[in-house]
Amino acid sequence: MASNNSLLHIEDLHISFDTYRGQVRALNGVDLEIAPNEVVGLVGETGCGKSVTAFSVVGLLDEKATIDQGHIWFEGEDLTKKSEREMRQIRGKRIAMIYQEPATALNPVLSIEFQLAEVIRLHSKEKLDKAQVRDKALELLDAVALPDPKELLGKYPHELSGGQRQRVMIAMALSGRPALIIADEPTTALDVTTQAEILRLMKAMQEAYETSLLLVTHDLGVVAETCDRVGVMYAGNIVEVGNTEQIFEDARHPYTQGLLRAIPSIEERRAKLETIPGSVPNLLSPPLGCRFHPRCNQLLPICQNGNRPSLREIGPGHWVACHGEVN
Ligand SMILES: Nc1ncnc2c1ncn2[C@@H]1O[C@H](COP(=O)(O)OP(=O)(O)O)[C@@H](O)[C@H]1O
Ligand SMILES: [Mg+2]
Repeated sequence: MASNNSLLHIEDLHISFDTYRGQVRALNGVDLEIAPNEVVGLVGETGCGKSVTAFSVVGLLDEKATIDQGHIWFEGEDLTKKSEREMRQIRGKRIAMIYQEPATALNPVLSIEFQLAEVIRLHSKEKLDKAQVRDKALELLDAVALPDPKELLGKYPHELSGGQRQRVMIAMALSGRPALIIADEPTTALDVTTQAEILRLMKAMQEAYETSLLLVTHDLGVVAETCDRVGVMYAGNIVEVGNTEQIFEDARHPYTQGLLRAIPSIEERRAKLETIPGSVPNLLSPPLGCRFHPRCNQLLPICQNGNRPSLREIGPGHWVACHGEVN
């Protein structure tokens, strides 16, 4: 899948966790690429490895985690080879992260002004005086469409709504003018109306600041309007990747098809939604062969007895990891 114009190229990434019950093989050969200015969605049910993938890119994996194999190419360098000190130079500056719960990412005892000033100073090439930092903070709050930015600077995180806190987090992420923003379930903690607003804002900011965006979500509905391409993850693997149209109009992996059937549409609102029977396997002892086979409605003998299917290109830029007749 390698191409020369990718900003981020996750290549055959294997990550495991040492736990008292044994080794959890969380990522089992993840491949994903993001081009400059591209918005890529990473979807899949809870426990499929989306957050582990996201955190590996910013070098914020749990200390029990080991990168067993693979590479994370970013701007031509392999992030898996970087020290924590080197990652600190990249994090926030070249790659910014937006978390699910902005309340935990913001410090509750510090004002918004203090927290914004800290990141602005950190990311500024010149030394700025207090007034310049304040101007920059106001500019950022204005960019993320927060009303009364002057008043807001004096507030503390708990005085803001969830949506406002997420806007502050987006402002902080943008302050370093990163090439890539990784957002891990950025709207999951918000009500539906606010979710739509924050997604629209992230898309607008991604365009205005010319960044790439990796949007991690368990909600396929969220990616439809926002993403250029989508990677579908199941039990530690990307099982299908393609542009948004290919994924929504022409999904080939039985898992992707199942996820799509579980999105509520207006006509189906009264009907019972289909869900994929079964659940994501425990990765202490994942199923052999294709990890999806125990839940698959198109099971073949090879799926249980054969190797794990690898991604193959079935159409331009459309890749599927399935033993079945997907073309
Ligand atoms: N700190 C950890 N210790 C042990 N296992 C973990 C840890 N974090 C994640 N995992 C394992 O990695 C898998 C993927 O987790 P995660 O990336 O958080 O899933 P997702 O974000 O898709 O919901 C989980 O099934 C879990 O078993
Ligand atoms: Mg997660």
